[in-house]
Amino acid sequence: MIHDFIYDIPVRVYFGRDQLKNLGPELRKYGTRVLMTYGGGSIKRTGLYDKVVREIRGAGLELFELSGIAPNPRIDSVREGARMCKEHNIDVLLAVGGGSTIDATKFMAAGACVDFDPWDFFDLEKWAPIEKALPIVSILTLSATGSEMDCGGVISNPETNDKIGRMEPLTLLPKASFLDPSNTFTVSAYQTACGSSDILSHIFEVYFNMDQDMYMLDCFMEGLMKTVIKYAPIAIREPENYEARANLMWTSSWAINGFVDGGKRQAWSCHPMEHELSAFYDITHGLGLAILTPRWMEYCLDETTVSKYVQFGTNVFGIDPQLPPMEIAHKAIDALSGFLFGTLGLKRTLPEVGIDRTHFATMARKAVQGGTLKGFKPLKQADVEAIYEMCMK
Ligand code: NZQ
Ligand code: ZN
Repeated sequence: MIHDFIYDIPVRVYFGRDQLKNLGPELRKYGTRVLMTYGGGSIKRTGLYDKVVREIRGAGLELFELSGIAPNPRIDSVREGARMCKEHNIDVLLAVGGGSTIDATKFMAAGACVDFDPWDFFDLEKWAPIEKALPIVSILTLSATGSEMDCGGVISNPETNDKIGRMEPLTLLPKASFLDPSNTFTVSAYQTACGSSDILSHIFEVYFNMDQDMYMLDCFMEGLMKTVIKYAPIAIREPENYEARANLMWTSSWAINGFVDGGKRQAWSCHPMEHELSAFYDITHGLGLAILTPRWMEYCLDETTVSKYVQFGTNVFGIDPQLPPMEIAHKAIDALSGFLFGTLGLKRTLPEVGIDRTHFATMARKAVQGGTLKGFKPLKQADVEAIYEMCMK
């Protein structure tokens, strides 16, 4: 059925090459003391750091900085950011980077408003409420996660091998995001491929659903998928192709900003399975998703689900609709594998990225949280273990 839903995406988007002039006035809405957060230094190498600092200082704002946020961001960065917000009485946080920086910054903003350890937001037994957060503004430098326009984030705790996501629509949405595609010109071919795989997965997690659907949203999602399939190879071949980078950037935001899942209540499947791979092996999120997705599709394919694959295969990959449904489904999965592992050049198996069977049982149990993952097809621990096993060759 088509469930009732609330559509509300109050993120102001400044899209394009010449928007940074709006940064000072945007930040000023929230106060004068800015904590700027960033990752391992790519923004310094690209020159973005200097431009941002110039705007902040030009607007007469006071700047504080926290750098070194790692991919698969750690709770330690969140703790440090929350501490700095309190110490310096920060008014607004400015995240400059990819999903890792933006995600960590969201929980710094929330951590700044509480007296307890921010890991309590992720501890499954405590799940401390997030009632308030300082305002967040983002400048995106990598098209992938959609964190620039969604209300969630994923934080790792290396001490416990946990990587846990949380969504909070009322508190964690950025107030504004600056989306300049030229800030992604320097993203490597590998990260462009991983980001594109992540965008596709966000769409698949919603699209592969046997509920009676909103046809309009299915068409929209097929358009997003086709956009990634068309432009990711161009961005890899020609990193400074503005059109390609712009299409990937805007698609990354719309894949997960809450629009496409209007009316759907299904749990995601590949993401919980992948977060365990990243938690135990610190691999890139989009790479883990690429390895898992075609196997998950194969695992879920049967007579009851085949019609969705037919829709996907014919509308997205242009497979002949006259073929038998099962043949279309297999061709669709093959086409996706060809795209991920051939065109994008991502690794195909878990052993190729250094993952063996050691933690399969634990990762699978954590992925389903000891119960059933109520996704496209319900998955129990044994199902997830079987899917990991399919990724071994
Ligand atoms: O750290 P720096 O030096 O900035 O380098 C980064 C990092 O090494 C680099 N990079 C980013 N922009 C660049 C650049 N290099 C050159 N030029 C640029 N313009 O790319 C590397 C990866 O960055 P990261 O932020 O980790 O990548 P991504 O945006 O893919 O974020 C991944 C994280 O987001 C989470 C993932 O689980 C993972 O932890 N996710 C967040 C979601 C959300 N908020 O809703 C949903 C996703 O499903 C995902 O789980
Ligand atoms: Zn993702």
